[in-house]
Amino acid sequence: MQVVIANNSHIQYAQIICDTIEDSAKQRGTGIAKRTTEYIVTKIENGNAVIALDGETFAGFCYIETWGHGKYVANSGLIVHPDYRGQGLATEIKKKVFEYSRKKFPDAKIFGITTGLAVMKINYDLGYEPVTFSELTDDPAFWSGCQTCKNYDILSRTDKKMCLCTGMLYDPAVKEHTHKHSYNKKVFKRLKSIKQNIFLKKEKKKK
Ligand SMILES: CC(C)(COP(=O)(O)OP(=O)(O)OC[C@H]1O[C@@H](n2cnc3c(N)ncnc32)[C@H](O)[C@@H]1OP(=O)(O)O)[C@@H](O)C(=O)NCCC(=O)NCCS
Repeated sequence: MQVVIANNSHIQYAQIICDTIEDSAKQRGTGIAKRTTEYIVTKIENGNAVIALDGETFAGFCYIETWGHGKYVANSGLIVHPDYRGQGLATEIKKKVFEYSRKKFPDAKIFGITTGLAVMKINYDLGYEPVTFSELTDDPAFWSGCQTCKNYDILSRTDKKMCLCTGMLYDPAVKEHTHKHSYNKKVFKRLKSIKQNIFLKKEKKKK
C-alpha cells in the first residue's frame, strides 16, 4: 500500500473517488457535502490531496481546503474504499494529509466537522480538540458547502451555531497538543446520540 501526495498521474482516479464518496454517504444515510469530479481533479492538480493505492487499485483519499484567506485549513473528503476498511488506512491517510498541511500552511488552524466516530478518534489522536462552531472559520464559502447535506436544515435553524457534526480544531499557536484526557469513545458516542435526539426529534414529529 502506498499513501502519497496526489499528482497529475492520479487524475484517472477522480471518478472512482467521487463514486465511492457518494455510495458511502448513501449507505450511511448521513449528510455530506457533495463534491464534483472536477473539484477532485482540481485538488489533485494543485497538489492538495493524498491518495492511497494498492498497486494500481484505488484504496483511499483525502483533500486539503483553505478557508478565511488561508487562516484555516480543512482536511476533508476522507474516504477509504470498503475493501480496505478496518486496517488503519484512514489513520494513515489522515496522518499524511495532516503533516503535509502543517508543512504547507504552518500558521493555519486545521479543522474539520464530522459525524463520523472514526474521524473524531483519528482527529483527537492527532491533537485536535472538539470546539464550538464559533471557533471555526466564518468563511461563508465553507458553510455553503453544507447546503448539499441532508441535515442543512438543522444548521440553518440554529443560525450556524450547531448541527449533527462535531467541530474539531488543531491550533498551531497552542504549544502543547497532548490531551488532558485520553480519547473516550463513550463520550463522543453519547454526544452524537444526544444531538441526534434533540435535532432530529422535530423532523420525526413533522412526519
Ligand atoms: C470512516 C472511514 C474513513 C474509516 O476508515 P478505516 O480505514 O476503516 O479507519 P481506520 O481503520 O484507520 O480506523 C480508525 C479508528 O476509528 C475506529 N473506527 C473505524 N470505523 C469506525 C466506526 N464506524 N465507528 C467507530 N469507530 C470506528 C477504528 O476502530 C480505529 O480506532 P483505533 O485506532 O482505536 O483502532 C471509512 O469507514 C469510510 O471511508 N467511511 C465512509 C466515508 C466517511 O465516513 N468519511 C468520513 C467523513 S467525515
